Amino acid sequence: MAPLFIIGTVVLASVLSSTTASSVWTLNCAPLTQARLDPILAPGVWPSGHVHAAVGSTAFGQQMNGTYGALQGNATTCDKFTDHSSYWAPQLYHMRSDGLFDLLPFTGMAAYYENYTCDYNASAPGWCVGTRNPRAFPPGLKMLAGNSLRRTQNMSDPWQQAILLESGNNGEVYGMPPKLDGNQLSGHVRFPSCWDGSNLDSPDHQSHVAYPDASLGGNTQGGMCPSSHPVALINIGAEFGFALNGVTDPASLVFANGDTTGYGFHGDFYMGWENTTALRDSFAECFTNDNCPWRAFGSPTGRDPVATAMSPMVQPPYEDIGLNGPIAKLPGNNPVYSA
Ligand SMILES: *[C@@H]1O[C@H](CO)[C@@H](O)[C@H](O)[C@H]1NC(C)=O
Ligand SMILES: *[C@@H]1O[C@H](CO)[C@@H](O)[C@H](O)[C@H]1NC(C)=O
Ligand SMILES: *[C@@H]1O[C@H](CO)[C@@H](O)[C@H](O)[C@H]1NC(C)=O
Ligand SMILES: *[C@@H]1O[C@H](CO)[C@@H](O)[C@H](O)[C@H]1NC(C)=O
Ligand SMILES: *[C@@H]1O[C@H](CO)[C@@H](O)[C@H](O)[C@H]1NC(C)=O
Ligand SMILES: *[C@@H]1O[C@H](CO)[C@@H](O)[C@H](O)[C@H]1NC(C)=O
Repeated sequence: MAPLFIIGTVVLASVLSSTTASSVWTLNCAPLTQARLDPILAPGVWPSGHVHAAVGSTAFGQQMNGTYGALQGNATTCDKFTDHSSYWAPQLYHMRSDGLFDLLPFTGMAAYYENYTCDYNASAPGWCVGTRNPRAFPPGLKMLAGNSLRRTQNMSDPWQQAILLESGNNGEVYGMPPKLDGNQLSGHVRFPSCWDGSNLDSPDHQSHVAYPDASLGGNTQGGMCPSSHPVALINIGAEFGFALNGVTDPASLVFANGDTTGYGFHGDFYMGWENTTALRDSFAECFTNDNCPWRAFGSPTGRDPVATAMSPMVQPPYEDIGLNGPIAKLPGNNPVYSA
């Protein structure tokens, strides 16, 4: 998985080539759990509507208590030890010819943390070359990118442009890739990088955040924030990986929500960085210096940080989601979508 820039526009490419310092660094996270849990959309509820694959804070569970819930985790599966955020997305399944479903192995998440967005500036509306100023996420921020119910693609809508899939090195596409390659499928979620400056969440878990304003040259990965959501945040480009175990037919893949189109892929972020000062400072270092000091802070032993699989502190009730062999129905009996 390589840092992924942009589809169908030259704007960002020209910005990138004009900067010498790196504008991206990578967070690597091992799997935490796969379960019918959704602490943003269904807090306190088990089971939630469909199986999610989660990484990050060991606090992930049906009940993530209080505003700072993700922070209550005593550890993280991510290689940056001070990141106790939670990240989750729908689990992938294979529909077998005998009608059963195989759960395909979740391999973890890579997230690109990107310095591409700037605050809204009424006196200089337009692309923000040289003035990108994303800030660390406010403690307790929650957000949802994508829509589990979507089965079509509207290319004018940034919320829909933010969800892509990729198999092997065939490039990112909207919806299920036409060809599977490399024995791997990853679901990509570009989180919104503009914030209203006050709300940590909203009833739809989306309207407190936004994408950079297309009318000001922005896109899902960067640019100037709209006046409605003027505060620039770090861009997160998250990639959730699944092993295909030899599956070659994309028409035989289905996400846990019953989506066979891939348009209904989505991702959730629950901010749990331990120290926003450190996050911001580390950013300045990591964006300018490949040898950034993650090795020193965030790693109490001073050793290289390594993504490590763990179990959640609070285990959800047991349910057979297919970890030990094929299952007859998608957990929750979600119907498989057919056009
Ligand atoms: C959240 O609160 C519930 C109820 O008090 C408790 O059972 C659970 O262990 C708490 N979870 C965490 C992660 O602290
Ligand atoms: C807004 O743009 C103006 C004009 O380019 C510039 O002088 C000013 O510093 C910018 N403000 C901020 C907060 O970046
Ligand atoms: C982000 O990039 C801008 C250049 O557009 C740079 O001035 C700023 O220092 C960078 N921010 C961080 C935290 O590295
Ligand atoms: C597509 O998205 C744009 C931008 O959000 C919206 O204005 C338009 O109504 C949408 N079209 C359809 C057919 O939903
Ligand atoms: C947060 O990180 C900064 C920079 O590493 C450090 O100076 C500060 O002591 C930390 N604060 C806490 C509460 O850990
Ligand atoms: C975190 O808590 C779990 C269960 O409460 C425990 O098994 C585990 O060892 C703890 N991990 C750390 C790093 O303290």
